[in-house]
Amino acid sequence: MKKIFLFAAILGAALQPLKADEGMWLPALISQRIGDMQAKGFQLTAEDIYSVNQASLKDAVVLFGSGCTGELVSDAGLLFTNHHCGYSFIQRHSSVEHDYLKDGFWAMNRSQELPNPGLTVRFLERMEDVTATVLKGYKPAKMDEEQRQALIKKNSDKLKADAVKEGNGLKASVEALYYGNQYFLFVFREYRDVRLVGAPPSSIGKFGGETDNWMWPRHTGDFSIFRIYAGQDNMPADYNEANVPYRPKKSLKISRAGVKEGDFTFVYGCPGSTQEYIHSEAVRYIQDVSDPEKIALRTTRLGLMKKHMDQSQAVRIQYSSKFASVANAWKKWQGEEKGLRKNKVVPVKQDYEKRFAEWAAGTRYEGVTDRLAQLYAARNPLYRAYEYYRETVLTIERLQMVRSNRFNTKDYYRPIDEESFVAMMTAFDQALEDIYKPPYFLDKRAQYGSMEAWKDAVFADDNEAKALSDALNNHFSTAIVPPVTELNQSINLVYRDYMQGQMEFENERNFYPDANLTLRVAYGKVAGYRPVDAVWYNPVSTLRGIIEKDNPDIFDYNIPQVLRDIYARGGFEDQPVCFLATNHTTGGNSGSPVLNADGNLVGINFDRVWEGTMSDLVYDPEICRNISLDVRYLLFVIKEVGHADYLFDEMVFVD
Ligand code: ARG
Ligand code: GLU
Repeated sequence: MKKIFLFAAILGAALQPLKADEGMWLPALISQRIGDMQAKGFQLTAEDIYSVNQASLKDAVVLFGSGCTGELVSDAGLLFTNHHCGYSFIQRHSSVEHDYLKDGFWAMNRSQELPNPGLTVRFLERMEDVTATVLKGYKPAKMDEEQRQALIKKNSDKLKADAVKEGNGLKASVEALYYGNQYFLFVFREYRDVRLVGAPPSSIGKFGGETDNWMWPRHTGDFSIFRIYAGQDNMPADYNEANVPYRPKKSLKISRAGVKEGDFTFVYGCPGSTQEYIHSEAVRYIQDVSDPEKIALRTTRLGLMKKHMDQSQAVRIQYSSKFASVANAWKKWQGEEKGLRKNKVVPVKQDYEKRFAEWAAGTRYEGVTDRLAQLYAARNPLYRAYEYYRETVLTIERLQMVRSNRFNTKDYYRPIDEESFVAMMTAFDQALEDIYKPPYFLDKRAQYGSMEAWKDAVFADDNEAKALSDALNNHFSTAIVPPVTELNQSINLVYRDYMQGQMEFENERNFYPDANLTLRVAYGKVAGYRPVDAVWYNPVSTLRGIIEKDNPDIFDYNIPQVLRDIYARGGFEDQPVCFLATNHTTGGNSGSPVLNADGNLVGINFDRVWEGTMSDLVYDPEICRNISLDVRYLLFVIKEVGHADYLFDEMVFVD
């Protein structure tokens, strides 16, 4: 009996409707949160954050490229984002003679700034609840889902066309929030002449590499600097030498006062994707199946890469970018799985669903959670096959190259791919039942008798490689993807009801829509955390820690000599580098401005701590922390390393 009560108490504590500092809020609706923000220290108003009538902070924030955030820091279009967000552009400008990735790049005047074809930034002009217009003409009793979708598309297309009608560079999108219970129109202005101004050497911008990724204590100078250019009329224009620096409606002032534990902060940016309201079965699948299996498969691939990268400097260069992208999610999933277990998310959700079902009896929400459980039971084996394809056979470079007819020998090392072929084909074969495999695969498996023999044939003979590649890709896209898509659609349809039901069931709770790369505000405070028993992490790191980590023999910790020299000169021991806060962020928030109570720039968001990465599913205020670059370290690097402090002339500093 006692045990039951204890368990109930644990569940109860974990079920607080909205935990402190959780949430990614829509700027246009921030007036609903402004009271709480001000109570926690915020000094400005809702209109300062978002306004369509006057310049507001939203006018200083952009979607940078396709998946990062950036912020305006001068009235001449100067922009800050992360080094890892600018990475591919810095890379494209790099050559053996000018290795800007390795050495950094600093334009010493505007004529030296480098254009980046294809790179765009988007400013939000306005956002608007268009639910009524999007659903205009919808008759639930008379229309099926397909007709509903067709109607939504028609109404949305009209809204978008009207929104972009007059105006150079305007783009519009209509986004479903809360699984289609609400629709918002977003109107952007997109600029397409964005030039590289500065980037630190990778030994600063990527300091700590994969070793420190997702970790605290952190000392990464993860920033790069760009400038937006416009036509003479300040409107978007294709790259042209005659273009002029864009004059933003608003740019951020830079605070040199710094941060300390407890300070209010908020993050203004474009978080990509979260799933805060999903069913326990969906969480169970992620925690018990998806995360552990994908982690194990990637551990194998990373091990193969690392073995060869450790043996050869040339291979290390070839595979460092591939290694980084495989390692990034691999490490995140480990933190996520652990965090889900530690927070008992599955039993907590199961208990919630039980209480929801009791409440829902006799309402239109009756049976919703059971339907979700059934749909997941039907989907999960198929979805597992889907994930296995993507994590095993579809990662074999030989099979990708022969299919696309693009043979990138520059960043290709065949021994890695051959070993990967054997390991991934074996894992695929052993993990999945034969019904998920193409007949061609089953025939050839019998014919060759071993993966080794099959590998030799595939790497020796283009036709053999092509046949296997086609068989796997075709089976994936015709026999695996369609049923998964269909089941996911059915699931999302039930979520539309379940979401609405949850909002009625917990009518006191403040809901926020899952992230979908639309502009959001997250707020919280500077705070350390306890990663494990007996350890407390302070929230601010300093240059002293970089010197402590410095090791010329370890690639990730080999700092540029100039940093050693500066440190040796003395006076910079306490130079702040990064800090932690409780802002609820996710992928896409990279490069987001981190602002203080007065709305001035104190940092640039670039990561989360891995113990808290389950915040994409459930937020734990004790452990979920975003990691920001302290803007004062950015200024330090510009001046002391880049000698580009002429850029300070166009910035506005406050204390
Ligand atoms: N973990 C950060 C993010 O998810 C940084 C990734 C890039 N850095 C790296 N070391 N792989 O984007
Ligand atoms: N580094 C991530 C990004 O590129 C942000 C980290 C996170 O997932 O919070 O957006």
